[in-house]
Amino acid sequence: MRMVDLIHKKREGESLTKEEIEFIIQGYTRDEIPDYQMSAFTMAVFYKGMNRQEIADFTNAMVHSGETIDLSAIEGIKVDKHSTGGVGDKVSLIILPLVASVGVPVAKMSGRGLGHTGGTIDKLESIEGFRIELGREEFINHVNTYKMAIAGQSANLAPADKKLYALRDVTATVDSIPLIASSVMSKKIASGADAIVLDVKVGSGAFMKSLEEAKELAETMVEIGNSLNRKTIAIVTDMSQPLGHEIGNANEIKEAIDVLQGKGAEDLTTVALTIASYMTILGGVYTDFDRAYQELEKVIKSGKAVEKLKQLVTIQGGNPAVIDNPAKLPQAAHHIEVKAWENGYVESIDAESVGISAMLLGAGRQKKGDAIDYAAGITLSKKIGDEIKIGDTICILHTNVEDYDQAIQMIRNAYVFSQEKLGPKDLILGVIA
Ligand code: URA
Repeated sequence: MRMVDLIHKKREGESLTKEEIEFIIQGYTRDEIPDYQMSAFTMAVFYKGMNRQEIADFTNAMVHSGETIDLSAIEGIKVDKHSTGGVGDKVSLIILPLVASVGVPVAKMSGRGLGHTGGTIDKLESIEGFRIELGREEFINHVNTYKMAIAGQSANLAPADKKLYALRDVTATVDSIPLIASSVMSKKIASGADAIVLDVKVGSGAFMKSLEEAKELAETMVEIGNSLNRKTIAIVTDMSQPLGHEIGNANEIKEAIDVLQGKGAEDLTTVALTIASYMTILGGVYTDFDRAYQELEKVIKSGKAVEKLKQLVTIQGGNPAVIDNPAKLPQAAHHIEVKAWENGYVESIDAESVGISAMLLGAGRQKKGDAIDYAAGITLSKKIGDEIKIGDTICILHTNVEDYDQAIQMIRNAYVFSQEKLGPKDLILGVIA
């Protein structure tokens, strides 16, 4: 087989066989296929797509490009969750203790931030002492004993995806549905969970800008999961503005604590409870969505959910005192208030610009390997539909950098005001099972 012939075949819109796909993935993982040929191939996929069988084969080949985690030593149905990524998305921090509180085992493996702000692992590391490097035995013991553990993703998990994602990132081929679907699902399947709940974000802060595309991505991933024997549900959720009020790392931990204490932002609470409810259904604890949602609300009200987060922090070596006193989390030197320059209502907030602004303040990585400042971030005081008067604070920037003019400018560009009040946004835009 020759790679050039397979690129040609895909360029002409033909379907590839399982053997051809395995040849490509194995050859690329072993450095036998160079980046320039793989770039041409991904661009051909971007334009010509792949059919469902090709996507499943592509995913499976990436799963087997490295180690697969065996979680069979954990009792019960292990349910994982994945988000396609958004700004202010701290849902994993909430669902992990919440779902574990009702007895569903969550063995979570997470990556570092790929986008403008940190990933779940980065956020947790803003808690002093929190360890994400757990040995296999420790990880499994924690899940069997406490129903929860979170660890950094092993370097050898779906290595083909790691290499391919880095290539796509610099060849304008990230936002292709077959490539995103196979990338996400290869990591989830290699991580060993029995069931998966996917949070597919749609809007200005997401890869998928339209509802139609987001639904197609959701359906593609659900089909891959089911064809590879993983019960999979996808929820399409709104990302037309950042989720909740906090964007950053330490401040997102604080906001997750607020939700688990029952005093969190309404949008974030709704999305987190919806995803957690479907996880408990796949985990076999509840059969009915409304019942699951109400029971999880009760778990929050009773104080059990926030205690469970404290337990997670304790067993992973972090300082549990931050849960009762979030002021112990890293704090920035500067807090800059951005004020409204018009009277009216907030019409939109471009989530991507807010994410870039947070990165400029130090909350994210400009490039792989950069250090993150856990104290840096943004608090959105006003969100879509809120009334504003000239001089009202619309958001607060937290930073240790001295030059934050560009970050302020990005925020000013992100906010659009209007004279009319918009109604509340629908948050849950589809459920695909
Ligand atoms: N997240 C992933 O893991 N992969 C993609 O391709 C896009 C988002």
